[in-house]
Amino acid sequence: MSTSTGQSAGARANIQKLITSGFRFEHSRHLMLTLREPVQAKQFLAALAQDGWLVPAHEDWSGPGGPERLAQRFADGRCPLSLGITFSGLLGLGLDARKLDLLRAKAPAFVQGAHGRAQTCLGDTGDSQPALWEASFQPAKADLLLVLHASSAAQLEQAQQQLANLRGSTGWHGHWAAHDGAHLGTDPQQRRLHFNLLDGLSQPVILPEPPGSAERPDNSRNTHRLGEFVLGYQDNAGVNPWRLAAERPAASGLPIAQQSAELAAFFKDSSFAAFRKIAQDESAFGEFVQRQAQAIQGRFSLAQAQAFVRAKLVGRWADGQVVQPADALGAQPGAAVAREHFDYSQDQAGLGCPFGAHIRRMNPRDDPVVPFRRRPILRRGMPYGPRFEGSYCAPASTATDLPAPERGLLGLFFCANLEQQFEHLLGQWANDTPMGPDNRGNARDPLIGNNLPDHHTYHIPMGQDSALQLRGLLPFVKTKGTLYAWFPGLSAIAQLAQPAPNQAPAATGP
Ligand code: HEM
Repeated sequence: MSTSTGQSAGARANIQKLITSGFRFEHSRHLMLTLREPVQAKQFLAALAQDGWLVPAHEDWSGPGGPERLAQRFADGRCPLSLGITFSGLLGLGLDARKLDLLRAKAPAFVQGAHGRAQTCLGDTGDSQPALWEASFQPAKADLLLVLHASSAAQLEQAQQQLANLRGSTGWHGHWAAHDGAHLGTDPQQRRLHFNLLDGLSQPVILPEPPGSAERPDNSRNTHRLGEFVLGYQDNAGVNPWRLAAERPAASGLPIAQQSAELAAFFKDSSFAAFRKIAQDESAFGEFVQRQAQAIQGRFSLAQAQAFVRAKLVGRWADGQVVQPADALGAQPGAAVAREHFDYSQDQAGLGCPFGAHIRRMNPRDDPVVPFRRRPILRRGMPYGPRFEGSYCAPASTATDLPAPERGLLGLFFCANLEQQFEHLLGQWANDTPMGPDNRGNARDPLIGNNLPDHHTYHIPMGQDSALQLRGLLPFVKTKGTLYAWFPGLSAIAQLAQPAPNQAPAATGP
């Protein structure tokens, strides 16, 4: 999961580290808080900033003095913390009208919130419909999202206690809901999601700023401009939608240019995030794979057939290699190919990685079948719930009468434009017919799509005009909730923490 560090020193001091490079810790906790009292709520934000909870992108715990700084953090009970705020949170804090209006104009999905858009824009129908989401994802519940990272659950616990006692915390105390994630493995090369899938293999690489003529965005290398993820910079098309040059009418008496500069500075270095809790049904997925494998097994072993089916659904073999046209049922994957920088130019008929496979849908790279812009997204998430103890070869035989514990993914996705990136990925690319030539089946994404039983066919091209058609896909995941949050730059957090001009100072103490 490499991400370039080619941003300016100013940007790297202001952008939250989670966005551009993420953290490599085993545990995470996502706290969703409701705003109760704005004066104290601002005091809490000020305490987070002043006491060093927030982590700028330039923090490097592997560099000189880094391990000591990190150890001190944990000794003080301060985990690395990242902060996102919802539109209702900004309203509650009394953000000024010009900034709210700008968000209404430029970020309508963020303003409306995921709950109101999920059925139409995210494919969340049936068991995933927002009315069934967990309480903390229901409207008017979450105003602030705090993401903590740590090496152990005990460190998270200690940090949460510190936060609960921090100055102004009662401004947010109405409702603290925690969602805990943990990587299923300690080796960074072996971090697996549920469904026993290797993760963290590919991640967009951010090109250095300012844009130079030498390095251009390159979909096959998965390189993109900072503006695809962070506001205030050029995107891949060379446009900076948050430059805001003299875009606003003069309302405050300030010269237009000065107003625009102030607005642009406030939003610069921030990003939008979608926090999505997704439950995964291991048994249903395992049984589907087993049934399909039995049907195509022929002279091969069941394990070989299962590995083949799984690879064709995800687009990668169990070891993370992208499925190649020469990879056949029963054969070991061929010569090692790049797991991170690759494209589908050698696989234009989908003979290796089908057009419907999860990774080809979510990032088609240079695939000519995609007529419009690429829609890169930074993935910062972790699995939740216990590791699946059943056998991936025969989940049915391990079934008991006990209800399966819930497990899934706490997905956290960053982008500069929720409508054009996150929502398009889910609403169109995951929950519609795959892009590609006509012979591509009608299935939705086999991992995360809301497939209807007995309705969708997953198409696996096999060459010489033959294809495998897999039927019986189910929705193997269920959305438990989605929250849209804005992750401000550190300077904007400091501004948000300032008392409003006519606000009485808060009483001291939490
Ligand atoms: C339980 C849900 C999910 C599972 C099990 C899952 C699984 C995976 C796996 C195994 C990979 C390959 C590992 C890698 O390339 O690093 C992957 C890649 C990816 N997934 Fe998911 N995913 C899930 C949800 C989502 C969602 C909701 C989105 C979009 C909003 C998404 C977008 C992506 C993207 C963009 C890639 C990278 C593809 C590439 O660059 O080649 N995934 N996912």
